[in-house]
Amino acid sequence: MKARLKNLTLLQVAIHLGAWLPLILLVVDFFSSRLSVNPIQDLEQRTGRTALTLLMLSLACTPLHSLFGWREVLKRRRTLGLYAFMVAVIHVSIFMFLDYGFNWHLILDAVMKKRFIILGAISFLVLLTLALTSFDASKRWLGKNWKRLHRLVYPGAVLVILHYAMSKKGDLFRLQGDIIRPFIYGLILLTLLIMRVGPIRKFIQTHRLQLRFK
Ligand code: HEM
Repeated sequence: MKARLKNLTLLQVAIHLGAWLPLILLVVDFFSSRLSVNPIQDLEQRTGRTALTLLMLSLACTPLHSLFGWREVLKRRRTLGLYAFMVAVIHVSIFMFLDYGFNWHLILDAVMKKRFIILGAISFLVLLTLALTSFDASKRWLGKNWKRLHRLVYPGAVLVILHYAMSKKGDLFRLQGDIIRPFIYGLILLTLLIMRVGPIRKFIQTHRLQLRFK
């Protein structure tokens, strides 16, 4: 145990802290009554944003490797993805248990009224599938299909951003109201996706050294 802790890299420490700290702060704020007049909504929103941020960070690993040749980030994708899933489980549990007391009639009623929840539920199922098949044994078992399956993370992330944007009031075309934050997340995701497109990725990799030393 001591040896394992000693061998942790700085990036690993940053990832573990970055995933646990927002949750610890949330619990502290909850028990010291520092949340808003609607504490359950606060819990839902903060866990939702943390899960999305961790998901985006896991998607940023490959582009970061292409840009800077930083190999270690590739090894940390799985941890970031699993942390995103863990926080998403907390987010959904807060909705099901704290907000709706696990009452299926009320939950179905909420889904009918707040359509953004359907997108959240689909993205949650995507994350669940990816988390269950994230281990080396499933990688061996699924072979080539593993990569294909794990590409679902991109549409999954798009759905989360739509889920976020649709939960807000605002005008996307005038960039007014609460829509700005989901819009920024959307722009970052678009950039990450563009950087993964074959020819663009190759261009970045071949020009990496020149880009770095200019
Ligand atoms: C069954 C699945 C899900 C349900 C029932 C659900 C439910 C909710 C609810 C009730 C809200 C609060 C809306 C509000 O009152 O402002 C919310 C917001 C949000 N959720 Fe989900 N969600 C689900 C899946 C997910 C997943 C998988 C993610 C991310 C990986 C996610 C990320 C977010 C984000 C980023 C917000 C907006 C936070 C903000 O307003 O700042 N949700 N969700």
